[in-house]
Amino acid sequence: MSHRILMLPGDHIGPEIVAEADKVLRCLMADFGLAAELEYANLGGCAVDAEGAPLPASTLSLARQSDALLLGAVGGPEWDAIERDKRPERGLLAIRSELGLFANLRPAILFPELADASSLKPEVVAGLDILIIRELTGGIYFGKPRGIRSRDDGVREGYNTLVYGADEIERIGRAAFEAAAKRNGRLCSVDKANVLESSELWREVMEGIAGDYPGVELSHMYVDNAAMQLVRAPKQFDVMVTGNLFGDVLSDCAAMLTGSIGMLPSASLDASGRGLYEPVHGSAPDIAGKGLANPLATILSVAMLLRYSLGEGEQATRVEQAVAMVLADGLRTADIAGSQAKTISTAAMGDAVVAALRAQQ
Ligand code: IPM
Ligand code: MG
Repeated sequence: MSHRILMLPGDHIGPEIVAEADKVLRCLMADFGLAAELEYANLGGCAVDAEGAPLPASTLSLARQSDALLLGAVGGPEWDAIERDKRPERGLLAIRSELGLFANLRPAILFPELADASSLKPEVVAGLDILIIRELTGGIYFGKPRGIRSRDDGVREGYNTLVYGADEIERIGRAAFEAAAKRNGRLCSVDKANVLESSELWREVMEGIAGDYPGVELSHMYVDNAAMQLVRAPKQFDVMVTGNLFGDVLSDCAAMLTGSIGMLPSASLDASGRGLYEPVHGSAPDIAGKGLANPLATILSVAMLLRYSLGEGEQATRVEQAVAMVLADGLRTADIAGSQAKTISTAAMGDAVVAALRAQQ
């Protein structure tokens, strides 16, 4: 059976990096027997310009028919001024919510060849391998009521609602326990239970399901301490699980520990394994169109897509090995060049990965 993959290039560097992922997928199809169809649709600012909405109905309907989605990146300053529900980010939030992609997996791995790219001391980050699991369709991002209103005294106020149902906490908790069981068996749940009732319930639910996973050791940490521990001694963590907003902040922090946010893939999964895969980095308007973007996070997102949504673990390993080969060969885009003088372009990096794939034949 042929897999249906929906490609969503998005804005700025998005199309440049997705073009390289496209090359990789087509190589797997031509030379390694991957049965897949690639379709394309608009999401984000490009969708606003072309179809008048950041998540057009046509994109959503294609997404529902797909087995997996690959996203480049959305957003840019040119859409900052338009009305709130047409902003590119709303398209991303809407597709997460419409498809029920509640489990966001963000690995932060330090590739040994890139150890000097981190701003932390090498001994603090050497061998770093953390998985942050962020709840993605609830919490303060989606809670109601929300808005900007005028108080009785005429002063305006902005407000949002942080709400988590026990069912939402339990399903992200179970996803995290299962992930931890497959890794080193340590799960740290991050909350703000000393202040927030929603966190108090979060902690209670996590404790309540822990008994079902005897192989996993559960601990709890307040989010402020977790931010500090991530930069002080990040290797103490294996899997971290947290709510939407805390996860947004902590995952950027964890990504930067590796010094190469251009290397990190992510997956957002629903209950049945369908998922949206995207690099952790953004649309980088400042370097768009210059061939400077690093396509490896997107290519590694393809590997996650193959493994988690298509059940093509062997193809995924091939892609990961090809990326390891180009790094071992010393090929670098500018963001991961460190002190190395010679760098290659986005397209040259994609071509190098394809060549490394073919070399495995
Ligand atoms: C992320 C991004 C998004 C988020 C933005 C673009 C809406 O920062 O995926 O982490 O806040 O979730
Ligand atoms: Mg973010």
